[in-house]
Amino acid sequence: MQSVKSDLRLWEIDLDQSPEWIEAASARVLAADERPRPGEAEDQVRRRRLVARIALRIALSRALDRAPGELRLRRDGSGKPWLEPHDPRAPLHFNLSRTGDCCLIAVARGGPVGVDVEHVVPLPEADDIVRTRFAAEEARAILAREGADRVRAFFNCWTRKEAYLKARGLGLMAPLDHVVVTVGDEPGFVSLHDDDPRAWRLFAVPLGPDRAGAVAVRCAGSRGGGMLRPEALPLDRGG
Ligand SMILES: CC(C)(COP(=O)(O)OP(=O)(O)OC[C@H]1O[C@@H](n2cnc3c(N)ncnc32)[C@H](O)[C@@H]1OP(=O)(O)O)[C@@H](O)C(=O)NCCC(=O)NCCS
Repeated sequence: MQSVKSDLRLWEIDLDQSPEWIEAASARVLAADERPRPGEAEDQVRRRRLVARIALRIALSRALDRAPGELRLRRDGSGKPWLEPHDPRAPLHFNLSRTGDCCLIAVARGGPVGVDVEHVVPLPEADDIVRTRFAAEEARAILAREGADRVRAFFNCWTRKEAYLKARGLGLMAPLDHVVVTVGDEPGFVSLHDDDPRAWRLFAVPLGPDRAGAVAVRCAGSRGGGMLRPEALPLDRGG
């Protein structure tokens, strides 16, 4: 069986690039309707969003060996981006997530892929979310922990669910307890409401103590999951 990881690339991008780089890369890489409006690149949040948009085109251009500016990106009804023309015989699947200055982009040839990254910080509403939106077994496992372990287990659970929901093109409006995952160090699906968990692999992304990341990818005949270390995306094609 071909390794899932050989069909899957995970890129990490530092979203804090210089205004000069952003200006040059926007002109070279982005479609006319994606380019920054006057003043947009002055705001840090918008600047980071722009860098993510540029990085997505660079990552896709590497996979397709085409110029980033040639790619035509569209969005489906849920907001999930896809590439046109969409060749059903060899589609390229991808997904992006960002938090603060960190962005992850997953690109897969084998099947739909979803990625999520979050800052690991104690949230006052976390226990409420766990009790009201997570599955009973996840809630038991998370609430049995204390302190930093509990916070980490919450974000392990959250990012694993969100990665899967993003792979499916569903958002967080979907019932979160329909996707049941492990919350400890070993990522895995316990059960999926209308899907076969054996058709998916779930990876945890090692990003240090302050961040949690996960990637879900659909691939025939695969099992389990593990760790998926991201590679730094070379941004030279954009600048
Ligand atoms: C999609 C969603 C899960 C993203 O969550 P988030 O933590 O805020 O954002 P992330 O950084 O992880 O991901 C954002 C990226 O995911 C991608 N994305 C957007 N919508 C998506 C979807 N439905 N599925 C998968 N990926 C999606 C985009 O690349 C987006 O980047 P952009 O904002 O620069 O375009 C969340 O916004 C959501 O639940 N949206 C509701 C979608 C929905 O159900 N819409 C129904 C029609 S109104």
